[in-house]
Amino acid sequence: MGELDTLTAGALAQIRDAGTVPALEDIRVRWLGRKGTLTEQLKTLGSLPAPERPTAGARINAAKSAVQSAIEQRRAELESAAIEQQLSAGAIDVTLPGRGEAQGGLHPITAARLRIEQIFRRAGFEVAEGPEIEDDFYNFEALNMPANHPARAMHDTFYLKDGRLLRTQTSTVQIRAMQRAVQTGSLPLALIAPGRVYRRDSDVSHSPMFHQVEGLYVDENVSFANLKSTLHKFMEAFFEQDLSMRLRPSYFPFTEPSAEIDISCVLCRGAGCRVCKQTGWLEIAGCGMVHPAVFKACGIDTERYTGWAFGAGIERLAMLRHGVNDLRLFFDNDLRFLASFAGGRS
Ligand code: DAH
Repeated sequence: MGELDTLTAGALAQIRDAGTVPALEDIRVRWLGRKGTLTEQLKTLGSLPAPERPTAGARINAAKSAVQSAIEQRRAELESAAIEQQLSAGAIDVTLPGRGEAQGGLHPITAARLRIEQIFRRAGFEVAEGPEIEDDFYNFEALNMPANHPARAMHDTFYLKDGRLLRTQTSTVQIRAMQRAVQTGSLPLALIAPGRVYRRDSDVSHSPMFHQVEGLYVDENVSFANLKSTLHKFMEAFFEQDLSMRLRPSYFPFTEPSAEIDISCVLCRGAGCRVCKQTGWLEIAGCGMVHPAVFKACGIDTERYTGWAFGAGIERLAMLRHGVNDLRLFFDNDLRFLASFAGGRS
């Protein structure tokens, strides 16, 4: 049993000197494993006289548990030393800030739409919506473009198998809104209708899906002068600058007279630049007085009411406001482009 004390002291010394966790594990196996030195000691108990066995057994077990707890203690020391060393070697810098979450933002087209809505809402206009899948009546017929009307050729329309179509213009919403107003007796009517439209067209300045905003104001004594002043105020509010506006005679089947709206270039302020092709002017919207044939298709009394309408492209408004020169950037979803609008640029 004196030998047991020597053995235990040897084991404890080895444990104290163990420099790594694997080395410590070897020591554990050597002393406490199935064939370990202390385990072997227990096996010798059988050869002792019976009265001595309990005391001897107890001593061996005490030695085993002393060795066991020394190993655990040393293991804890070695593990925390390893962590200390990793930290001081800079492998993990726990003082670094976390990665955090990137903040999202509204898509610039959504932001432009909300901006347009906000400006018109302030002027007393409602925001209306209509379906993107339409039929011939709403997209063409009721807008004074009967079958074979030459203006239909300007709209490269996507047709569905059942004869319906993807709307090519938000003017469809005019018809739905006027029909509803007649049914519910809720004229006068002042609305804008922003939304997606579709045409078979794709290049630097055309995308098969794009956004338009339609405007419609119907009441007694609505004048062309009112159209001009409302849109002028809108353009100045949207671009946040004083600008000139001019109207050029044009043609749309659903308005008479019709005009093209130009504003002084928002980038060079009329001096002439690449964007306005040195003219100082930007074509920004189409407009006109609602054609009597359109009122008739909706059941509105053309003797009593007059109205104006306009249509503009939201991408174009957003491109000019932000100096973006390629329409496709809006649809590529490149985060570097989109992130430049995050945080409230509208
Ligand atoms: N719907 C026309 C287009 O897609 C735009 C337009 C022009 C709408 C004149 C109008 C308008 O309401 O009066 O090109």
